[in-house]
Amino acid sequence: MIKFINPSTEKPYIHFQSLYQEALENQQKGIEAISVSSYSQEMSEVEARYVNLKYIHNNEWIFFSNYNSPKAKQFKSHSQVSVLIFWSSINTQIRIKALISKTSMQFSDEHFKGRTKEKNALAISSNQSQTIDSFDEVEKNFYQTLNRMTSDTVRPDFWGGFSFTPYYFEFWKGHKNRLNKRYVFEQQDDGWVECLLQP
Ligand SMILES: Cc1cc2nc3c(=O)[nH]c(=O)nc-3n(C[C@H](O)[C@H](O)[C@H](O)COP(=O)(O)O)c2cc1C
Repeated sequence: MIKFINPSTEKPYIHFQSLYQEALENQQKGIEAISVSSYSQEMSEVEARYVNLKYIHNNEWIFFSNYNSPKAKQFKSHSQVSVLIFWSSINTQIRIKALISKTSMQFSDEHFKGRTKEKNALAISSNQSQTIDSFDEVEKNFYQTLNRMTSDTVRPDFWGGFSFTPYYFEFWKGHKNRLNKRYVFEQQDDGWVECLLQP
């Protein structure tokens, strides 16, 4: 589930929320899973991965991750990302272009406090995406961290939120005979400009 905090009342956000509601009513599984593609300047390549979108706070879309991970390094050197959502229950694809940065430390602290001990133990114990000799080592690190944790354990500074602010949306709805509807909202100086695209 995505938590909406004081969501923007701009047109694409209203449209997003009504589709989200429709997907929820249709029991969409994994509704918070979004694909985020980023550009690695180092490797001259684009990479995609799913993350769980946790909040839409006004016009900021927030998920959490490791700040030393490959994705974090990519966001830092190239802050433009491409985000993709597909809700099969309502045959809807949402494409977003956005700019990404870290959330405030305070926001990350608050979120960390509300998570389970196990999730936080994993966040603390994992050097995300680094190679390791065996899975046993992953488990050992996890249980050692879990056993050391107390109610005073605080968020490590290498883990926290990322927030992206969209400047482009395309809402694609599949229809019979491939007469698919594609609505685009693009942000310009004087607000969102709308248009339709051919299927
Ligand atoms: C449905 C789904 C949700 C995921 N959610 C997250 C997430 O919220 N944060 C995260 O760091 N990784 C998440 N992952 C794992 C990432 O896809 C990825 O494997 C990991 O973040 C390492 O990515 P990187 O090497 O590009 O940094 C998720 C994977 C799946 C399949």
